[in-house]
Parts: sequence; C-alpha cells; structure tokens
Amino acid sequence: MNRVLVTGGAGYIGSHACKALSKAGFSPVTYDNLVNGHAYAVKWGPLERGDILDRERIRTVLTQYKPLAIMHFAAHAYVGESMADPSKYYRANCLGTLNLLDAAVEADVPHFVFSSSCATYGIPESDRIAETTLQEPVNPYGASKLFAERMIADMARAHNLTWIGLRYFNAAGADPDGEAGEDHDPETRIIPLALAAADHGRTPFSIFGDDYNTPDGTCIRDYIHVTDLANGHVSALKALLAGKEPAFVNLGSGVGHSVREVIHTIEKVTGRTVPIRISPRRPGDPARLVADPALAQRLFGWSATFSDLENIVGSAWKWHIHKKNESRQCFAT
Ligand code: UFG
Repeated sequence: MNRVLVTGGAGYIGSHACKALSKAGFSPVTYDNLVNGHAYAVKWGPLERGDILDRERIRTVLTQYKPLAIMHFAAHAYVGESMADPSKYYRANCLGTLNLLDAAVEADVPHFVFSSSCATYGIPESDRIAETTLQEPVNPYGASKLFAERMIADMARAHNLTWIGLRYFNAAGADPDGEAGEDHDPETRIIPLALAAADHGRTPFSIFGDDYNTPDGTCIRDYIHVTDLANGHVSALKALLAGKEPAFVNLGSGVGHSVREVIHTIEKVTGRTVPIRISPRRPGDPARLVADPALAQRLFGWSATFSDLENIVGSAWKWHIHKKNESRQCFAT
C-alpha cells in the first residue's frame, strides 16, 4: 500500500500536505495529538490521535498501517515562544523526532521526509541562503530543528532509511479551494494577524521593529505559499521512491518581502487599512531570511508557482472570511 504516516497532519502545513499526497495517489494517515492541530482539518485519510512523545502509541500505529514513508511535521514552531520556553522545543522537536526515528527503524519504514526550517541558518551573511550556508541558529526553535536534522542523518547512516529534510522559509496563505488554512491559537504570525487588524480596524497590528538594516527598516522574509510547500513534500517523496540520495533542501520562493510590504499588499488585496503601531524588536528575529531555491529545482524539479505575495494574501483573506462566517454560524446555532 502507498500509505504515508503524516505526523502533525491536522496542523497547518500537514493538512495541506495530506491533500497534496491524496491528489498524487498516496494514502495519508494523520498522527496528531490535536494540541495545535484540528480534527476538522483531517479530510484526506484517517486520524490517529497520538503524541510523538508516546513511543508505544507510535509503534502501534506503524504496525497497524505499515506506511512506506513518514512525513514528520509535528513540532512546536514559534520563534518567540522558543526563546521563553526552550525545553518545550527541545522535548517535542528533538526527543519527539528521535522517538519517531527509532520507531521507523524498528518497523522498517524505508523513507522519511522531515520538516526543517530556515531558522537553522541563524543570521546569514548572504542575501540568498543556499543549503551550504553555515547553520548557526539564533533561537531554540532553530537549534531544535538543527539537532533533529543531525539525528536523522546519523540514524539513516546507521540503518536502512532514506530521507529528505526540507528547510521551509515562511509558510503562508491557504488552500486555493478553501479546504484548509492557518488556524493557530493563539495566533502569532504576520499575515493572519494583519488580516484580522484589517478586518476589525480597531486593534492595531504591531510591527516588531522598524530599525533593522533593511531598505524600510522592517524584517524581510521569503513567504512561500503553503500549497507550494505541500507539493514540495510530494516531489521529495517521489524523489526518494525513485532512489534519489538524501539531502537537505530549501523550500522558498527566492523573493523577499518586508513587513511593510506585506501590510501594503494586504491593504491592496482587501481594500482596507491595516492600523499599525511600531513595537520593539521581537527577540530571536533575524533581519532577513530569503532562500536560494535552486537545489529543489535541480533535485526534484520543484519550484514555487503559487507564491506571488498577492496570491498568498488573497488565499489567506478568503480563508479568514470563511473562518469568520463559520464561527458566526456556530454562535447562531
Ligand atoms: N511580525 C511583526 N508583527 C507580528 C508578527 C510578526 O512585525 O505581530 C514580523 C516578525 O517580526 C517577522 C515577520 O513578521 O519579521 C514574520 O513573522 P512570523 O511570526 O509570521 O514568522 P517567523 O519568521 O517568526 O517564523 C515563521 C515560522 C517559523 C519558521 C520561520 C522561518 O513561524 O516556524 O517562519 O522564517 F521557522
């Protein structure tokens, strides 16, 4: 069977990956503790509730489904929170990954696709970050992902396991068909927060620092549409199935946008004003993170096709309105 165990499949990126897997003819099985994920987001295969810190439960699920691959999304992923609570990040992101790797080896799962992050690079000197860039993370989140990368490479060398680690830049946007999107509680990420500010017009959106060494003083990020990310996972899995060598690969658009540019695009797309205030810098935020995405193109023919900023914002706005209408209906019934 072409089953793929998707840890974190009820979460933002994981749910989009389940849709992409299913479209490509794979059968995703979601493994999620539903702490950050949502049962409603699991639409393309079964949901097995469980934690990546629960070794027995992982073993049971792997024995039951015998997947041909694991896609490992389950993790904590907030830079700011990782600065305040590092042990939460090392426990889930390192120990959880180790549990999963042990179980994969024990159950003879041959392929592993890992969600890593550009946060492993820290504060790079280059304008576009290639995979060969020195990895010196500046926050515990990035460090936890870097340690997990090393575990995967070491475990695979010692056992019969092939892998690809995908270093995402800033996942953004929502499924173009409106079937999935971003839904965090609390929300900390730029696009949903700025859209909410545009919608309500009352609580201002806080720009975390406007004195960075960038053209408009605000941080620059490489926003990559979540559907592009999801397709990147399918491409990576197909590459592994075709016998490609393990590699760490950036998934980014190669284009950087500042916080102010994101706000302007939101105003253009929604036709509303985003009220703003300038707040202090957020600890752990590098000034600029933009991918060199050439390796993904070379290794598995992937490039971003949905990641134009207006397209990202447009899909996120559609999702924002959809969620708002749904919660209205909930209150009405
Ligand atoms: N920002 C604000 N105000 C806010 C929220 C964010 O100014 O209220 C700024 C941040 O300072 C940053 C940019 O918007 O410069 C993007 O911030 P996000 O919180 O949306 O995303 P991060 O870059 O902090 O982190 C995200 C993911 C990480 C991933 C990282 C890669 O949450 O998992 O992208 O850059 F590692």
